Amino acid sequence: MSKRILITGGAGFIGSHLARHFATQAEVTVLDDLRSGQAGNLEGIRCRFLHGSILDAGALKQAIAGAEEVYHLAAMISVPESLAKPAECALLNTEGTRRVLDAALATGARKVVLASSAAIYGDNPTVPKLESMTPEPKSPYAETKLAGERLLEQYRLDHGLGSTSLRFFNVFGPRQDPRSAYAAAVPIFIAKALCDEPISIHGDGGQTRDFIHVTDIVAALAYAGDSKVMSGTYNVGYGRSQSILALAQEIIQLTGSKSKIGHLPPRAGDVRHSLASTVRLLSAGWKPQSSVSVGLAETIDAFRQLKA
Ligand SMILES: NC(=O)c1ccc[n+]([C@@H]2O[C@H](COP(=O)([O-])OP(=O)(O)OC[C@H]3O[C@@H](n4cnc5c(N)ncnc54)[C@H](O)[C@@H]3O)[C@@H](O)[C@H]2O)c1
Repeated sequence: MSKRILITGGAGFIGSHLARHFATQAEVTVLDDLRSGQAGNLEGIRCRFLHGSILDAGALKQAIAGAEEVYHLAAMISVPESLAKPAECALLNTEGTRRVLDAALATGARKVVLASSAAIYGDNPTVPKLESMTPEPKSPYAETKLAGERLLEQYRLDHGLGSTSLRFFNVFGPRQDPRSAYAAAVPIFIAKALCDEPISIHGDGGQTRDFIHVTDIVAALAYAGDSKVMSGTYNVGYGRSQSILALAQEIIQLTGSKSKIGHLPPRAGDVRHSLASTVRLLSAGWKPQSSVSVGLAETIDAFRQLKA
């Protein structure tokens, strides 16, 4: 019989790509309350979808029963929202993670993999970011992701529950929502470029990010879930930086768009440079399968199909 896995937040952007990856090789359960995800993201994917919250003990128990691996992606995902609702963020991200860990222990799961974030590094100007650097969380979102990592470590040491935390850098790919109030640069720029509308950049566009195609985030999650030796925290990025201005220009060129680039005032609290050190992840034997340019081409195709 194939293994059972649970994906919390599996109806979201990254979770639905992970569900598709596992659908042909595992019995996949998705637990998602559709706070920011959409049931439509799971269309055509063979999985059991439970509409419910990780904070609901009954729903969580039902979803996790018999799972060998748990991919914990459910979260309040936005920094601005976490600043507006810090208590809700702590309940969902920190307490939610604790409940997922308790449920994983109770069902005898072998491994829990947490979707953590590069936001933990804060605006420390040192790049690349090493996992050994002192965390400098600057928002409730980042604080709760760090608390989640620490909980995984505590359960590993106290109860022998296998776990890995993956600090994602800037993930992009098909199904990332450009309409959300907290949307990321790539889907917004592509949506604008495909309509020949102006693309607005905060500041001079010289701020850099380590963009990573969702295909490789999925590969890293699955690799960590399978691994018997990967525990603790790992950055997941390509270890390459690209400026926001260069990203906008590349998207305009790839789409053949007539969009013009405009500049807005810099956004308060925006980190200037973010770049992953990938040494630790590569040393664990993981290799990227895709790249920013392959990912952008695939994402643009997917957005074109949605538009058609
Ligand atoms: N996208 C990125 O660049 C990025 C970067 C770093 C970390 N992450 C992390 O990766 C994970 C997935 O992010 P995403 O970009 O796919 O966002 P997303 O909003 O598409 O996915 C999050 C999912 O969690 C679900 N959810 C929220 N609260 C829930 C609850 N109480 N119970 C059950 N489900 C709940 C949402 O409905 C949504 O489907 C998150 O934990 C996020 O913090 C994402």
